[in-house]
Order: sequence, then structure tokens, then C-alpha cells
Amino acid sequence: MAAIVIALPGSDAHAAQLASRLGAPQLPAEVRRFPDGEIYVRLDGEQRPAIAGAEVILVGSLTGAGDRFLEVAFLAGAARDLGARRVGLVAPYLAYLRQDACFHPGEGVTATYYGRLLSSTVDWLVTVDPHLHRLDALAQVYAIPTTIAHAAAAIGAYVTAHVPAPLLVGPDAESVQWVAAVAAACGAPHLILQKTRRGDRDVSVALPDDAGAAWAGRTPVLIDDIVSTGRTLIEATRALRAAGAPAPLCIAIHAVFADAALADLRAAGATGLVTCDTLAHPTNAITLGDAIAGAVQTQLG
Ligand code: R5P
Repeated sequence: MAAIVIALPGSDAHAAQLASRLGAPQLPAEVRRFPDGEIYVRLDGEQRPAIAGAEVILVGSLTGAGDRFLEVAFLAGAARDLGARRVGLVAPYLAYLRQDACFHPGEGVTATYYGRLLSSTVDWLVTVDPHLHRLDALAQVYAIPTTIAHAAAAIGAYVTAHVPAPLLVGPDAESVQWVAAVAAACGAPHLILQKTRRGDRDVSVALPDDAGAAWAGRTPVLIDDIVSTGRTLIEATRALRAAGAPAPLCIAIHAVFADAALADLRAAGATGLVTCDTLAHPTNAITLGDAIAGAVQTQLG
């Protein structure tokens, strides 16, 4: 079946990469605001013959800020009105997965609500290493077919090329899923630290009792899925340095960056921070285009 790629605002680079890897055309979409702030979308009506019966692939990372969900919903609607057979979403970063439980009475479990909304809007979803902590699988909150692209192989290749004798370190229990996979990809050992989060920016990290000097003769590489305020990586770096470990290199998959954390990370003793290109940021150094295209092929069948 013919596939057509359409970028969400700000995601032309991701869309172009995917279109080229799939050998599919990329069609422009107009997305702008009416004077009152409401969203206007338009696809090129002349393209009806190309879109009719086609698999339309919307591409763009979903961050929590703004009306990205509405843009997806409106573009999906416009594509269906032009006859698209199915509309899929490639969201390299998928928002609203961290509030996956009700920790205090009355809190909204937004992972569930967001999953419901997107599932009622697109036919399938591809994303990169979503934050699955208390959830085991996206299927627990998404009713549509989903495929996860993994960053571990690309991060492993980066670490192998740039860090001799690495020790892969995860800052908290849930990071073991990414850290163990990267460690396996580069044939190196790994260590998982213990994080306590008391608030959005109030985090502490401790070494496990049996950590010993796991870093002896090795360079620690801290790996997390998301860097948002940066507190997790900053406190993990501090804990390692306080225990006598060499300065770690930090790697994150998704450069959410709610705060300007880079200077604090260096001040805490990290040599630097490298991120994957799921969200555009100056720290992007690891491209996941091949992994994403592979996951999309799974959905296209
Ligand atoms: C937590 O559950 C995630 O895996 C990350 O550790 C977290 O989102 C990082 O957030 P921040 O940079 O604000 O500490």
C-alpha cells in the first residue's frame, strides 16, 4: 500500500529522514493559528488522488507542552477526509507516560487518559523507548497497535566508539531496561543506582551497598531515558563522584530539557551530555532514524 509522510510542525527533519528511508513522498501540511488562537490545518486538496487509499504517516514528537495532540487529531481528520485508508503516528518522543499511577488521592492518571485520546485519533503508533515504569507495555494504556523502536543498539555503538572500557550506570530502578540493553550491546558491565524522588526538582541518588569500586579501570557512562530538569543525572553524577568514581559521560534518549541543566551537570562533575535525536537539541549526537524506520515497516506490514 502507498505510504505518505506528513510532518507535524517543527518535525520536518524527522519526517524527511523517514520519507527517504521508506522511499515514500512527503507532503506539506499547513498548520497555523486563527487570530483567536484556534488551530487551522490544511492538506493540499490537489493531493486527494495520492492520499486516497494511502497509509498516511504523521511524524512528530509529542511533548506535554502546547496543543500537539490537537494538531495530530486535526491532521488525521483532514487526511481521512481526503480518503486516507489509515493514519499512523510516528512520535519519537511520547509524552504523558510518567504519571502512570495515582500517588495522591484525586490525581489524574494522565498516561491512561492520553493513551485513550491518541487511540481514538490514529490507527497505529510508533515511538522510541517510551517511559514504561509501572506499566509493563503500551498496550495497557493504548488500544491501537504500537511498535517500539529501541535506542540501545545506537547508544551502544556510540559508547563503543567514544568510551574505552565503559561501565554503564543507571540512575534508578526503572533505568535497568535501557542500561542492561546498552551494556549488552557494548559488552560492558552495568551498575544500577537508587533514586528517591520527593518532588519535581527534589531528587536524591545513592549507590547500592554492594557497588564496591565497580568503576575501577573504567569510565562510568550514566544512561537515562529522559533528561527533563536534569536533577536525576546531576544527583547520580554527584553520588558517583562522591564515591570516588571518575567523571561520567551522561547519555539520555529524550532531550526534554524543562530546565537549562547542562551547566549544573558539568558543575556536578560530568564530562558532558549526549542525547539521541528524538527531540531536537544541541546535545543530539545519536541518530535513531534506522531504528524508527524499521519500526514503521513493522506497522506497514
Ligand atoms: C524517571 O522516571 C525518568 O526515567 C527520568 O529519570 C526522569 O524523567 C528524569 O527527569 P529529571 O531530569 O527531571 O530528573
